[in-house]
Amino acid sequence: MQVISVVGARPQFVKVAPIDRECAERGVAHRILHTGQHYDEALSASFFRELEIADPAWNLSVGSGSHAAQTARMLEGCEEIFTSAQPDVVICYGDTNSTVAAALAAVKMHLPIVHIEAGLRSFNRAMPEEHNRVVTDHLCDVLFAPTDDAVTNLENEGLADRTVRVGDVMGDVIQWIRTSEPHDASDESAQDCIVATIHRAENTDDPERLRAIIDALDGVPMTVKLFAHPRLIDRCRAHSIDLDATSISVAPPSSYVSFMRSVRGARCVVTDSGGLQKEAYLLGVPCTTVRTETEWTTTLADGWNELAEPHELAASALRPRPSTPVDHHMFGDGRAAREIIDVIEAQFGQNQGSSQ
Ligand code: UD1
Repeated sequence: MQVISVVGARPQFVKVAPIDRECAERGVAHRILHTGQHYDEALSASFFRELEIADPAWNLSVGSGSHAAQTARMLEGCEEIFTSAQPDVVICYGDTNSTVAAALAAVKMHLPIVHIEAGLRSFNRAMPEEHNRVVTDHLCDVLFAPTDDAVTNLENEGLADRTVRVGDVMGDVIQWIRTSEPHDASDESAQDCIVATIHRAENTDDPERLRAIIDALDGVPMTVKLFAHPRLIDRCRAHSIDLDATSISVAPPSSYVSFMRSVRGARCVVTDSGGLQKEAYLLGVPCTTVRTETEWTTTLADGWNELAEPHELAASALRPRPSTPVDHHMFGDGRAAREIIDVIEAQFGQNQGSSQ
C-alpha cells in the first residue's frame, strides 16, 4: 500500500509525526508531500528534525500568497505528484490551505482521501480554517474525528457513515515527548512567566484588535514571553505597533520540543492557536484563548482553558490554577496513529497483496 501525507504548515508537521512513525514501524510505504506553505527553518525544517519525521519526498515550494493564489498553486502541484506517484490513499491533516488543496486534488482524481482531525467546527464563517474544514470533510472518504463533539458535527452534516472516532494524533506526540524528554522538575516549579502566541487573521488583521491584544499583554504584571509568528511581526509593522516599546519579551518561533518545555514551565499560556490549547491542557498548564469560540470545547472543562476578549486577558492569565487535575486521556491514550493506520490498511490496503 502506498500512502501519501500532504502537509504544509507548522501544526501539520506535528500531526504527521506519529503517522510517519507508525507507518515506518509496520512497513507501510509512506511518503510526505510538503506544499511549502511554511518554509522558514523555525516553522518547518526544525519540526522534521526534532520529531524525527522522514524528509519530504516532494516539496512544492508554493510559499506565501493570497488564499486563492496559494491554494491554486498547491492544487496544481498535488495533482502532478499524485498523477506520477499513484498512491492508494492520500492523508490530509487539520484545516489549512494545504489540507483543502490536497483533498480537492485527490477527490478529482478519484483517489481515496482521508482527513485526520475531522469534524472540528468553530461555526465562525469568517475564519479561513472553518471554510477549509467544512469543504475538506465533505470531500474525504474517511473522517477521523478526535472528539465526541466532532463526531456530532459530522453527523449533523450527514457525514456519519464516513466518520470514525479515534484518539488525537497530537495526544500521541505529547505522550511521546513526555516519555522521551527527561523531566526537569524546575520546568514546572518556575511558573513565573506567561507564554503567548498570536497569529490568526481575526486577531492580527484588524489594527484595533491587535493593538488591544498587545496592550493587554503589555499590562500583565509578569514576564510575558511572546513567540512571534512572522505574520504577527508583519501585521504589527503594518499597523505601526512597536513591540520593542512594550515590556513584552519577543522571541522568534521556537522549535517544537523546546517550545513545549517553555509551555510546561509557564504559569499560563495565552494564545489563539488551536493546537496549543490541547498541548497546554495535556501538559497541565492553564490556557487563555483570545477568541470568541473554540473548536476544542472539552479543554474548557474545569477552567483549564478560558475564552477571553483582550480586556479580559490579563485577569484570565493570572487566575488561580484549577484544582481539578487534567484528564491525560482526554485526547486518547497515545495510540491514535495506530488506530488510524489500522482503519486505512483495512479499508484501502486489501487488494494490494502486502503492506509494502
Ligand atoms: C497557517 C494556517 C493556520 C495555522 C497556521 C500555523 C491557513 C489558512 N492558515 O496560517 O490555520 O494555524 O498556519 O502557523 O492555512 N510566513 C513566513 N514564513 C513562513 C510562512 C509564512 O514568513 O515560513 C509569513 C508570510 O508573510 C505569510 C504569513 O506568514 O504571508 C502567513 O502565512 P500563511 O501560510 O499564509 O498562514 P499562517 O498565518 O501561517
